[in-house]
Amino acid sequence: MTSLEAPTKQTTSAGQRPPVAMLAELTHRCPLQCPYCSNPTALSRRSDELSTGEWVDIFRQAAALGVLQIHLSGGEPTARTDLPELIAAARENGLYTNLITAGVLLTPEKIQTYKESGLDHLQLSIQDNEAANADRIANYKNGHTKKLAVAAWVREAGLPLTVNAVVHRQNLDHLEAIIDLAAGLGAHRLEIAHVQYYGWALRNRAALMPTADQVARANAAAATASETYRGRMVIDYVVPDYYARRPKRCMDGWGNQFFAITPRGLVLPCHAAETITGMTFSSLRDHTLDWIWRQDPAFQRFRGTDWMPEPCQSCEFRDRDLGGCRCQAFAITGDAAATDPVCALSPNHDLLVAMAEDSAASGAPNYQHRR
Ligand code: SF4
Ligand code: FES
Repeated sequence: MTSLEAPTKQTTSAGQRPPVAMLAELTHRCPLQCPYCSNPTALSRRSDELSTGEWVDIFRQAAALGVLQIHLSGGEPTARTDLPELIAAARENGLYTNLITAGVLLTPEKIQTYKESGLDHLQLSIQDNEAANADRIANYKNGHTKKLAVAAWVREAGLPLTVNAVVHRQNLDHLEAIIDLAAGLGAHRLEIAHVQYYGWALRNRAALMPTADQVARANAAAATASETYRGRMVIDYVVPDYYARRPKRCMDGWGNQFFAITPRGLVLPCHAAETITGMTFSSLRDHTLDWIWRQDPAFQRFRGTDWMPEPCQSCEFRDRDLGGCRCQAFAITGDAAATDPVCALSPNHDLLVAMAEDSAASGAPNYQHRR
């Protein structure tokens, strides 16, 4: 399949329905050091990583369970020399494969090899439109220039390209230029993701949190650009949590459609779930994927709506947002079962707003790079 459109689910089973998509974090190794990295602050070692054979078996299990799409990610997934073999294994199991990469390790030959192995789609991250600021954020010299070349190679190879830009106080005023850059690179789709504040980003919140004025200007710029580029480039833009009044339907519900696998084989209902200290997640070295999806207590914990406290339990929106984000509830309140404080009905909403305003007003210029 070479279309940008991923397949849609055709079947459901009795009991828990099967997952749609999985995120395979092949490695935590990465040449970049973004200060908002979604990897945990305690990174897995190379020696702990799942082997080629283990991943191939996981892809077989995932397809048997009903998974349709696989996102090959990291860290930097192209740091794994067995990536062509892994792509081919995913393809042999009928999985739609999307490679999420920072691009700096790529060559035209590698891209061609991935395509010939069965890659369907490539997602390239950029840090800014200005090279100096982009390289400063990633702490990687000449990375931005390399990414511009990579985008051209991807298009020349005939692969669909999505550009992903994570935005925060130190690049948000460039949003219009970032959008124009993505269009100039030939992206079919642009994902603009405001930083989510857990893990590394939580450490760096004072240096990354945008002001409310910045966010308002960015929202307007994104809306205008969506019209300007209609029919040429799809722009996915989500208003950031901290200045919203209703939570996002995070992960489309805990254990509902999605799971992530860490480099050493833990299966998570959300890629950031390890930030919730006190929860235990099962390993594919000890259990089958089918058992974890259907029976692991960690997947059951926040599945559906029965676990919800008030005011969610009796709220008319509970089936719509499924209670928002568990990682955010934990990061702000210390209780993953609390109502997401983004919600204006949460008793902790004022706390979240105050924290956002304090962080944005701090003007802290420096962040700690991931290492
Ligand atoms: Fe959603 Fe709970 Fe807020 Fe209702 S109270 S809108 S269910 S987060
Ligand atoms: Fe983990 Fe929202 S990021 S549940």
